[in-house]
Amino acid sequence: MKNKLKVLDLFSGCGGLSYGFVRAGFDVVAGIDNWKDSLITFERNHPGSKGILMDLGNFDPKNLEKITGKIDVVVGGPPCQGFSISGKRNPNDPRNGLYTSFVKTVKQLRPKAFVLENVPNLVAMSGGKIKNKILKDFTALGYEVKYKVMLASDYGVPQNRRRVVFVGTLGHNSFIFPEPTFSDPESKATAGQAISDLPEGSVKDGTENKKKPVSDYQAKMRKKSNKIFNHEITNHDQKTTDIIALVPDGGNYKDLPDHLKNTRRVNIAWTRYSSNKPSFTIDTGHRHHFHYKWNRIPTVRESARLQSFPDDFVFMGSKTSQYKQVGNAVPPLMAEQIAKALAKALNKKI
Ligand SMILES: C[S@@+](CC[C@H](N)C(=O)[O-])C[C@H]1O[C@@H](n2cnc3c(N)ncnc32)[C@H](O)[C@@H]1O
Repeated sequence: MKNKLKVLDLFSGCGGLSYGFVRAGFDVVAGIDNWKDSLITFERNHPGSKGILMDLGNFDPKNLEKITGKIDVVVGGPPCQGFSISGKRNPNDPRNGLYTSFVKTVKQLRPKAFVLENVPNLVAMSGGKIKNKILKDFTALGYEVKYKVMLASDYGVPQNRRRVVFVGTLGHNSFIFPEPTFSDPESKATAGQAISDLPEGSVKDGTENKKKPVSDYQAKMRKKSNKIFNHEITNHDQKTTDIIALVPDGGNYKDLPDHLKNTRRVNIAWTRYSSNKPSFTIDTGHRHHFHYKWNRIPTVRESARLQSFPDDFVFMGSKTSQYKQVGNAVPPLMAEQIAKALAKALNKKI
């Protein structure tokens, strides 16, 4: 255990990214966030890791090592609003400091490597200037940086979520992004394979799942626990239930009769997941995406399954907070593949 590479997660949230690193054999020492609920979830699901409640907006990492000890890898997803670059920057917007805090932390701790993840359009934002600034900032600190837009469903996650991932190592970078293991559309894990064993109605936390897993994916998610948590359904009003009942599996507002087509003014309105495809990106609880079969939005547990959180990973806080924690996260299965590739590059046996 002593030889595990030590990880610090900045903007950790509930720890989707961290959880992938744990699964790959790293020791996640601590996660830092300014959102208490997410840290309670983080600590519950990362035994031995510290959840540090701290504002990373204007952060001085000088004394950080006293709390964390020597860190080998800094990981994290600074909120993308923190990337506005000079010229357009509002100096009074406290979010400007968030990315800078990540850079300052890497500068202070000088880890062997860092992993920075974000929304994919970061690459093209401001005509590529933001991406170039990231490359330049870390190169100046002695890191060789590689980046790639990764699609979660290529790595066994039943969701077509894209994230850009920057991986830098001190000195020569031998990191190779993991090859997609599920690039053939036929091979991808589907929403049906992910959640069909979860009940239509609410269940009390800790209830035994009486259904048998019917896919490899379900068996994987239930490997450590056969209990169901975070599965409280949302009761919609009758009008909403009646409208969504008219949309078929995989359909959307276009399947509704003309007089109902424009009842919600968003282009993703009245969309049902497709049972035989990966889901589209899980959001933080906007109530526009419905279960492929039941006339309701997915529960937190169903969303967590689509994000590849196993059933023993339990979310804390209010239901609204839980949806946000799940929707914010890096899918652990994808994070695990990144972490394994990094361990290989850092020459560590895992
Ligand atoms: C996209 S989420 C990170 C998700 C995480 N990487 C995961 O995989 O679960 C961004 C996080 O940044 C946190 N955050 C935003 N502003 C912050 C600040 N000023 N200080 C610390 N954390 C902040 C949010 O609370 C949120 O948890």
